[in-house]
Amino acid sequence: MSYKEQIDKSRLPRHIAIIMDGNGRWAKEKGRERTYGHQYGAEAVRMVTEASVETGIEYLTLYAFSTENWNRPDEEVDALMALMVMSIENETPTLMKHNVRLQAIGDLSRMPAEVKAKLDQCIGVTSQNTGLTLVLALSYSTKWEMVEAVKAIARQAVSGSLAVEEITDRTIDDRLTTAAMPDPDLLIRTGGEMRISNFLLWQAAYAELYFTPEYWPDFGKESFYKAICDYQNRERRFGKISEQL
Ligand code: FPP
Repeated sequence: MSYKEQIDKSRLPRHIAIIMDGNGRWAKEKGRERTYGHQYGAEAVRMVTEASVETGIEYLTLYAFSTENWNRPDEEVDALMALMVMSIENETPTLMKHNVRLQAIGDLSRMPAEVKAKLDQCIGVTSQNTGLTLVLALSYSTKWEMVEAVKAIARQAVSGSLAVEEITDRTIDDRLTTAAMPDPDLLIRTGGEMRISNFLLWQAAYAELYFTPEYWPDFGKESFYKAICDYQNRERRFGKISEQL
């Protein structure tokens, strides 16, 4: 039986987040430039988005560009930005066809004007779609968004509109870029590294973590379904004991 057939549709993760890693190594192993890997990475984005639509996942968040990725060589950053522009432009009709709503999180003010314009356009056009919400994390890091949230809370506390005693985890949740979304249930990382790299650190407090050695361009639909099956075989206790569930 294929992994797809093994998925229990009544117990799907509502929100899947993915650290797409391994494009560069994938390309290097083929004797090609890193940007070649990113091009095939964009194809994997397409596959996993389609798989999410087919399965009925509500939120899919992809770590497409981290705050730290700005430190990569200019040629690679430029190639990634050009790929984003092209992908968003080419894929908008497909997103519409599949009722997918696009959103973005991160310090979008740092994105080049052309990327920001294409992104805003696609977010606007797809805003009324009611199927999958596809979230691109761009120029994103949790440390960045936590600093922004702390600043916002401190401003309110200083102005007297928020009492320090009233601060709860909800106060922080509401000031993160993910405020309108459920927390991720499943966090996948491809490429073999066993770390979370500043991605949804607060939001993934209770996420199930899934690491695979597969490079991102090789991560197709079956790999995605396999990760969901693995998630469904876990017991999520949220600090309780089995008998209490
Ligand atoms: C990590 O691989 C990948 C990225 C930093 C970029 C992800 C971008 C894409 C998949 C391309 C298109 C995206 C969209 C949303 C259309 P790496 O370069 O860190 O690989 P390495 O660890 O092997 O060096």
